[in-house]
Amino acid sequence: MRHWPPAALRLVTPDLVLRLPTDRELDDLAQVAAGGVHPDGVVCFPQPWASGTPAERARNVVQNHWWARGDWARDNWRLLLAVFHCDQVIGQQNLSARDFTVTGEARTGFWLGQRFQGRGYGTQMRAAALTLAFDGLGADRVTSTAFAHNLSSRAVSSKFGYRPNGVHRVAVGTSLVEAHEEVLERASWLSARELVPVEIVGLAACLGSFR
Ligand SMILES: CC(C)(COP(=O)(O)OP(=O)(O)OC[C@H]1O[C@@H](n2cnc3c(N)ncnc32)[C@H](O)[C@@H]1OP(=O)(O)O)[C@@H](O)C(=O)NCCC(=O)NCCS
Repeated sequence: MRHWPPAALRLVTPDLVLRLPTDRELDDLAQVAAGGVHPDGVVCFPQPWASGTPAERARNVVQNHWWARGDWARDNWRLLLAVFHCDQVIGQQNLSARDFTVTGEARTGFWLGQRFQGRGYGTQMRAAALTLAFDGLGADRVTSTAFAHNLSSRAVSSKFGYRPNGVHRVAVGTSLVEAHEEVLERASWLSARELVPVEIVGLAACLGSFR
């Protein structure tokens, strides 16, 4: 796509390619969400978009992508990348920031279809987002928030050497959940970047969209 610069961006890990999806691929991603992101009754996100019926989950994915693109601004952007394994879409990796040129801080979020979890892909996805943030965009720090019970998400952060940055109380519907924010500083990234090799392709064509 000529007139949407982030479409040029690709992040390549040993097993995965992360990039913006075409409309057909976005539909496939929505279908992955329809198939299930977490067990019924478990909450993983402050906005429980992955709860509800399969059709609701799928539509939430599609609308979130359209919203992120429509709302994009250099001082407030959300990059929602589809994750491909052997050309099959399996999940989504987010990187977002507000006032990035001032704060140097970005946030990540991620999810995989349930049947693709627990195979090390989440670690590669996080590595891709961190490489883009630190090496590509020059971030000073990247944060991630996970609910207390979300041991796999927190384990991924631990692997990269995040440090705790506070616990927040969050209402998910009528339930109280503890959200653990963790932060990775540039100095820690320099020793963690060897964990997963990541290639960034096409950033020069879209750098001006981010900063
Ligand atoms: C979170 C998520 C993206 C992680 O992806 P993944 O591919 O499953 O993660 P990985 O396989 O790379 O790594 C998971 C790590 O958690 C560890 N882990 C899993 N369950 C665990 C548990 N109960 N206790 C401790 N560690 C656990 C695994 O051992 C693994 O670490 P290892 O590679 O050192 O063995 C994925 O599980 C997911 O989509 N979950 C549902 C949505 C979600 O929770 N999103 C994040 C919201 S904050």
